[in-house]
Amino acid sequence: MEHPGYPLPREDLKDFLQSLSKITDLSMTFIPAGSDIQDMIIGESSFCLQLKTSIEGARRCKASIDELRERAARSGMPEFDLCHARMAEMVIPLVSREGTDFGTVVTGQAVIQGLSDEHKKHIRDIGSETVPGAIDRLVAAAADNPVFKRSRLEAMGSFIQQQLLEKVTSYGALEDTTEYLFQKYEELMFLYAITESLSPDSGHQRALSVILDKGVQKLNAEFGLFMMLKAESEDSIELLDACGELPWPEKGVPTPLLLEMISGCHGPSLILGPGFRDIEVAPNTGDLLVVPFRLRNSREGFLVFGWKKKGMIGDGELRFALALSRQAASVLHAMQLYQELADLLFATLGALSSAVDAKDPYTHGHSRRVAEYAVKAARNMEFSSKFITMLKIAGQLHDFGKIGVREYILSKQGRLNESEKKAMREHPVIGAQILGKFKSFADIVPGIRHHHEHYDGTGYPAGLKEEGIPMVGRIIAVADAYDAMTTNRPYRVKLEHHEALVELKENAGSQFDPMVVDAFISAVGRSIHE
Ligand SMILES: [Fe+2]
Repeated sequence: MEHPGYPLPREDLKDFLQSLSKITDLSMTFIPAGSDIQDMIIGESSFCLQLKTSIEGARRCKASIDELRERAARSGMPEFDLCHARMAEMVIPLVSREGTDFGTVVTGQAVIQGLSDEHKKHIRDIGSETVPGAIDRLVAAAADNPVFKRSRLEAMGSFIQQQLLEKVTSYGALEDTTEYLFQKYEELMFLYAITESLSPDSGHQRALSVILDKGVQKLNAEFGLFMMLKAESEDSIELLDACGELPWPEKGVPTPLLLEMISGCHGPSLILGPGFRDIEVAPNTGDLLVVPFRLRNSREGFLVFGWKKKGMIGDGELRFALALSRQAASVLHAMQLYQELADLLFATLGALSSAVDAKDPYTHGHSRRVAEYAVKAARNMEFSSKFITMLKIAGQLHDFGKIGVREYILSKQGRLNESEKKAMREHPVIGAQILGKFKSFADIVPGIRHHHEHYDGTGYPAGLKEEGIPMVGRIIAVADAYDAMTTNRPYRVKLEHHEALVELKENAGSQFDPMVVDAFISAVGRSIHE
């Protein structure tokens, strides 16, 4: 990691100063802001090093630089002076227009207007402080130092200041952009994670909980609320979800008071602690962040986050909460659309299966009931919500192929003869063939085709057995048989609920999957008794 005092990566700074040293023959020292240690010394001359070999020389050198640094800090401009050896030294402050102090550059070791005899004498005088015998080398080194006019040196100071400040501030801007992009990336990944964790059939409530939970986590808030103005009136509010450590007793969220506070918020708003305390809504709460959003049907909602501590909300938090509220609005909107589509789909399926049921007056409502029983059993077996939706549709449409069976066979009083039985037994294949033409039914077609298979392989149309029969088919087979047994048919009177269950149990392992029968009895048996 870079030293926190370096406004640029250390290597960049070093390269830049070294280049300047080579061109000018001057020493260049960078001192980070807030530091009195000369952290970087580049191009230091043998002259200055020799001066500093004595403690007194080092002390005087440091004292003169410190004094110049103070002057530069006050003026904001490069400050020039002669050091105790009468060599030119200059301190160049790096302070941005906004007032950020990045540190200073110290240049040294130039001789102003040439080395006079009088200057040589002065160096000999202070040379007595250095190691004995080094005075001649010191004077010779001073004679090798570059000669400058003061005005030229000062112009160079301004140039270095301008170049370095430009470098430093553009690097700062780059860092800010990188930081911004990184935050944006994190935000997007977070929102993506929310979207990923929502499946279309998980429902509104789940969507709200996920958004709220993740929001509270990410913002380090104590609690979160999801509120919507009631559709029928603008002056009452509904709490849809809450999470975290609420400052109110459970179920005691003061919605009317909250409505009063947040109804005036037309953009993301911060309600700071004291105001909040004044109305005695939640004495233990610090700041509240309210983010209103509007659904496409114009219903208005509010995401509310609360903190016990104050000052937890900065620009990043505000920006994030705003993005979250947009996400909430679009997820809710998508959920609404999905619900409308799902309702439409099930209404259409209901109409289709009713058309089939209507051909057979004795099986009125059969498809709907089979779907319901199948779903109960599947829930008991803990299948995913996706599987259950698929099963519900398959249950509703399992006998759809009967549309291709002659009406007289379907409504025949009494037992069917062999050819009639054969025609009747074609309905699973007919159903699969018709529905197979629709891409969206691809997942349910195998279950429909095989809902009359037997677990021991003696069923139809393919004689599949055990796990070879699609699970949807195995579940529908049990639900279908139960409903057939418990409704009156032309050729027999219905069985009682418990008799039908006994029948299922007796045929578990031969006609039915025993695991499905167990789940069915435990789910449907219980719910009917209740
Ligand atoms: Fe059937």
